[in-house]
Amino acid sequence: MLRRLTPDQPESFAFTDANLAWAEEQIRKYPEGRQASAIIPLLWRAQEQEGWLSRPAIELVADMLDMAYIRALEVATFYFMFQLQPVGSVAHIQICGTTSCMLLGAEDLIEVCKKEINEKPYLPGADGKLSWEEVECLGACTNAPMAQIGKDYYEDLTPEGLRELLAAFARGEVPEPGPQNGRFAAEPLGGPTVLKDNAGEVHNGSVALALAQGDTVKRIDGSEVPLWKAPVPVGQQGAAPKAKKPKAAKPAPKAEKPAAVPSHADKPKLLSAARGGKPDDLKKIKGVGPKLEKELNNAGVYHFDQIAAWSAKEVAWADEHLVSFKGRISRDDWVSQAKELAT
Ligand code: FES
Repeated sequence: MLRRLTPDQPESFAFTDANLAWAEEQIRKYPEGRQASAIIPLLWRAQEQEGWLSRPAIELVADMLDMAYIRALEVATFYFMFQLQPVGSVAHIQICGTTSCMLLGAEDLIEVCKKEINEKPYLPGADGKLSWEEVECLGACTNAPMAQIGKDYYEDLTPEGLRELLAAFARGEVPEPGPQNGRFAAEPLGGPTVLKDNAGEVHNGSVALALAQGDTVKRIDGSEVPLWKAPVPVGQQGAAPKAKKPKAAKPAPKAEKPAAVPSHADKPKLLSAARGGKPDDLKKIKGVGPKLEKELNNAGVYHFDQIAAWSAKEVAWADEHLVSFKGRISRDDWVSQAKELAT
């Protein structure tokens, strides 16, 4: 497949402050001189922010990693996970067209995309919301035919099912990923013959996590970084290799008082999904609005009894890491409120 940069390029690209801090955290994972190893996560984050990967974005990432532009371009043009031209503003649909999927109906799925989105791949439809392309095997052949949409796989597809998925994405919904024919995972179509002990679980682990994160096709500005990805402990920051920063970029925010940063061991227990698929209405806690409730759910907090059980250290950890409402947990005494609500 010929993969080239689109001739229409923006003037510049800059990470949001939060995404820049995240990128520098990724770079610190690698030893001095090996920063280029962070190329894929940084390019991916640039694409998550903008929806596609422009030449200025590729060059900025190359600058940050002290790489020649051609090396970064080699990576960006090799992997079809990177979109080299603007795609649908809501979602880009990648239909697998390799053997298993082709034998089980991928061509019919492509016909649906041509009719419902655009006759031509990569080009957004009339409303600009969706685009599509055919890709090589995505490694989910047991659940063929399938498509990757954003970060998630939609499997065991039918033309009618795909049509409904496209309509849902266009309405701004994020349909549940995973098998679309009632399968739990990749067990035989007639039902599992071994490993039957997941009976009663509603979703497999991947689907549960996708539902908990809720970011299948969301643009990522960095404020959504999951809580369990705690920053590098302050005491270790001096030993980390320094990232080469782009000239215009702002430095990563620094922790103010090392002694006040709660340790990773103080992180409260988080869930991958609400128990029984039924989260509590956390907005009943004074100080929690819809946005905070969503952030708590994304972090793995769904129930009053989770918050009610937080120790002082866990409250301090949550106060530190739930950055958009720093200090509010202790100020509004969520633990006492949650204890009452839990009973
Ligand atoms: S052939 Fe489609 S996922 Fe492998």
